[in-house]
Amino acid sequence: MPSHTHPDARTAKNHTQDDARGADRINVRDGFSAEDVKNLSSVLNALLADVFALYLKTKNFHWHMSGAHFRDYHLLLDEQADQIFAISDDIAERVRKIGGTTLRSIGHISKLQRLSDNDQEFVAARDMLVELHSDNRALVDSLRAAHEVASKANDYATTSLIENWIDEAERRAWFLFESTR
Ligand SMILES: [Fe+2]
Repeated sequence: MPSHTHPDARTAKNHTQDDARGADRINVRDGFSAEDVKNLSSVLNALLADVFALYLKTKNFHWHMSGAHFRDYHLLLDEQADQIFAISDDIAERVRKIGGTTLRSIGHISKLQRLSDNDQEFVAARDMLVELHSDNRALVDSLRAAHEVASKANDYATTSLIENWIDEAERRAWFLFESTR
């Protein structure tokens, strides 16, 4: 399969189908092959679902924190949640910029997320930090995997953003780890 197909060729093939025309309007491939768009969208949307899941879990633990270190941990998790939330828009907009479509609902997130929710009634402070540490380490692994896909597609804007997100996730993991010792 050729890695780059001229957009006019695709439009001509699809012009008889209204559905296909609708899809063409939302899928604007700009410099990436159909296969690259598919692979990049899939890896970035799964990453975005994990980011939302981790954001909400971090807020959940921020809201339900308890114990002797309440103030420190409550504030630490708020800082981390802000940092996690900030990357969500950038991930979604990267998907749109390369010509893919991104998440549309909470239901969509729950279908794609790989990090698990924690709906327990009570979680001890230390267990919260241990769990978030492990989730942030898992996010680093997913970011590295996404970096590989973006790198293969020569999507340097995405690789460059991901490099910063890895540094931020490693910093969060570091703070969480040191707080549990
Ligand atoms: Fe708060």
